[in-house]
Amino acid sequence: MTTQTVTLTGLRAVYGRGARRVTALDGVTTSFASGTFTAVMGPSGSGKSTLLHCAAGLDRPAEGTVTIDGRRLDDLGENELTRLRRDRIGFVFQAFNLVSTLTAAQNVELPLRLAGRRPPARDVTAALDAVGLADRAGHRPSELSGGEQQRVAVARALVTRPAVVFADEPTGALDSAASRQVLRLLRGLVDDHRQTVVMVTHDPTAAAYADRVLLLADGRVVDELTGAITAAVVAARIAERETVPAESVGEASC
Ligand SMILES: Nc1ncnc2c1ncn2[C@@H]1O[C@H](COP(=O)(O)OP(=O)(O)OP(=O)(O)O)[C@@H](O)[C@H]1O
Ligand SMILES: [Mg+2]
Repeated sequence: MTTQTVTLTGLRAVYGRGARRVTALDGVTTSFASGTFTAVMGPSGSGKSTLLHCAAGLDRPAEGTVTIDGRRLDDLGENELTRLRRDRIGFVFQAFNLVSTLTAAQNVELPLRLAGRRPPARDVTAALDAVGLADRAGHRPSELSGGEQQRVAVARALVTRPAVVFADEPTGALDSAASRQVLRLLRGLVDDHRQTVVMVTHDPTAAAYADRVLLLADGRVVDELTGAITAAVVAARIAERETVPAESVGEASC
């Protein structure tokens, strides 16, 4: 049986007021089944990060609902929401968000410590090893390259074995070898542990690791690919959308 780990219904997100008002999400309805890998793509500013932040309970949408594991986030109090986020959700931020005064290992064990658990050293080492950074455990973020910081952020999101991992461009700062390592790791979470992965990416090669690709434009889901997803298919679909005249895009999405 397929169960939906995350369901989004009629999500609208708005930033700012008056002339500075921006509708970042404009009625997004979709769901992410358990044990699946979804890539979210779309032009810069199309609402991808906002979608992830709302789905993970980091931002509250202006309208619509988010359900995780059958629980509506807007029904939860602040403490319950914090607990759900801590226990069930891993998040890799687009800007890494590592704590600059902590070492790589201390950053990785932080979610466990916040959950009141004493992190076994071998779990932290295993998480760093999985992203190829076992030998950087004692380094602080300022002593790591951008790509290394990104991989520490991935290790940190996985260490609690969350039901769902949201990753915002987790390979954006990586070279192709390190990207492959992170993408295989994310794929393995889905294939080996039935965890759910939702990953924002601009890279069709990265998207090809997913089971499904959602394309966003102007805060809406405008296209969806499933089945045999290859980098070429994804790139072709994106190119197709970019060459469609603006009026017919409007008609298609009404
Ligand atoms: N804190 C904010 N205040 C005001 N506007 C914002 C804020 N965050 C995002 N926006 C606006 O909302 C829209 C969607 O932003 P979002 O960050 O979700 O885009 P994105 O698809 O992740 O883009 P990128 O690929 O560049 O990361 C953009 O137009 C952006 O300018
Ligand atoms: Mg973004």
